[in-house]
Amino acid sequence: MSLSAPETAVVPGVAGPARPTDRPRVFETWTLVEGPVEHGDKRGRELGFPTANLPIEDGVARDGVWAATVELADGRLVPATVSIGRRTTFYGRDGVRLLEAFLLDFSEDIYGQHIRVWIGHRLRLQKRFSSVEALIEQMRSDVDDTREWAKVTPWFLTQASRDWTGR
Ligand SMILES: Cc1cc2nc3c(=O)[nH]c(=O)nc-3n(C[C@H](O)[C@H](O)[C@H](O)COP(=O)(O)O)c2cc1C
Repeated sequence: MSLSAPETAVVPGVAGPARPTDRPRVFETWTLVEGPVEHGDKRGRELGFPTANLPIEDGVARDGVWAATVELADGRLVPATVSIGRRTTFYGRDGVRLLEAFLLDFSEDIYGQHIRVWIGHRLRLQKRFSSVEALIEQMRSDVDDTREWAKVTPWFLTQASRDWTGR
């Protein structure tokens, strides 16, 4: 396995609902993207949302903002809000496509660490925001949605998906 290129796989699993009132969607798929963490621009930190970034090729995973679980190199599972896209608010349509994971309640430096991002439930599509304040407000709400999702997402099924792929 090359450490320079992220690997992906789509595995059957169970993703939790975005809101606790939703019915659970059984047999939704998880998408796995993995690779070594790259530094983001420091803007993420300035916005209050520092992210662990992975480069991803076109065609790998779908653009949007997702509720996800990040598996660290030591096996710990951390809920994360994941943005996949070209960050059109700042870079227009020509921006580099990137996966950015904001790990909830987490402040360790994981630069260079090989992580697995288990992408579960799409919260919304990527948008071009007319102001940075509007983007920040939306990101706060994305994180709230991720917390709700994490409360009702059965971690043992994440584990089951992992066993299923033999990883
Ligand atoms: C939860 C979350 C949601 C995001 N949603 C969008 C979005 O809808 N549109 C967009 O242009 N950028 C979005 N971004 C990307 C931010 O613009 C990006 O994190 C910010 O520019 C900092 O990244 P950089 O330091 O790599 O430039 C999102 C990021 C996060 C963490």
